[in-house]
Amino acid sequence: MSELIEKLNRLKKERNAVILAHYYQNAEIQDVADFMGDSLALAQEAKKISADVILFCGVHFMAETAKILNPTKTVLVPDMDAGCSLADSAPPELFRKWVDEHHDHVVISYINCSADVKAMSDIICTSSNAHKIVNSVPLDTPICFAPDKYLGSYLAKKLGRDMVLWNGSCQVHEIFSESEVINLMHQFPDAAVLAHPECPENILDYADFIGSTTAIIKEATTSAKNDIIVLTESGIIHQLKKIAPHKNYIPVPSLEGCACNECPYMKLNTIAKMVSALETLQPEIIMDESLRLRTLRPLERMLELS
Ligand code: 13P
Ligand code: SF4
Repeated sequence: MSELIEKLNRLKKERNAVILAHYYQNAEIQDVADFMGDSLALAQEAKKISADVILFCGVHFMAETAKILNPTKTVLVPDMDAGCSLADSAPPELFRKWVDEHHDHVVISYINCSADVKAMSDIICTSSNAHKIVNSVPLDTPICFAPDKYLGSYLAKKLGRDMVLWNGSCQVHEIFSESEVINLMHQFPDAAVLAHPECPENILDYADFIGSTTAIIKEATTSAKNDIIVLTESGIIHQLKKIAPHKNYIPVPSLEGCACNECPYMKLNTIAKMVSALETLQPEIIMDESLRLRTLRPLERMLELS
């Protein structure tokens, strides 16, 4: 591995590249990243990058967002198959029909969606700014929220706002077992339960804190609690251990259980694929310019409001 990492660092210099990575990446990728963040922070960082190449270690919609916001850069991904079940739950042709059926609604789309869906939306949001974005819409204006029905219903309940919801979900956050959460809460009665808002309501009901990956990291590492039950993808635990190694982080299901709290798309990326991407400048995110311009408007609206 150390030889591969040396090669990666050499290629990074030769290509004038920057590595951006999401918290759900494998530990070894987190350790070589130049910048780590949640979806919003990664988008904000990507927009500012002056290096020639962005090697984006996350999933496709995140790298695509980087390309939309910083189009003159070469945006590479380690594996083009690193998709997202939530983004896939909103096929553009069905989404078009839904938007047309609700033409008097403001359409807010979670950033976990394709460029085509973004282009049909009025504003984009992430889990860290969704409250602000929904609250920016006048109270008398109806809202359509897509594609995550769980984030949508969490926001609707929290903000007292009726919204028409798209029926999409994330396969990782949807699968947490309620009985496993209850077991762990009995085993660790003083634990803080921290959850991502992509979890269903029956899981969020147990959470002491609900937030984006960055917000969860901040809460876990600064809270007075020592035991932390983590209701999001398990990759985040590597980052938590780096920041506050003395604490006890408990993934759900337990480590002895299945690996269904791992995002199979995020985990497609490897150091070897990163080396190959910098060597060959492939796979590269390529975008049609007219589609890019249509996606830029709702993304810029989000960035202005964040
Ligand atoms: P964050 O914006 O909280 O990083 O979430 C991204 C994601 O894909 C969660 O599944
Ligand atoms: Fe998509 Fe879920 Fe993976 Fe996040 S964890 S990238 S929402 S499939």
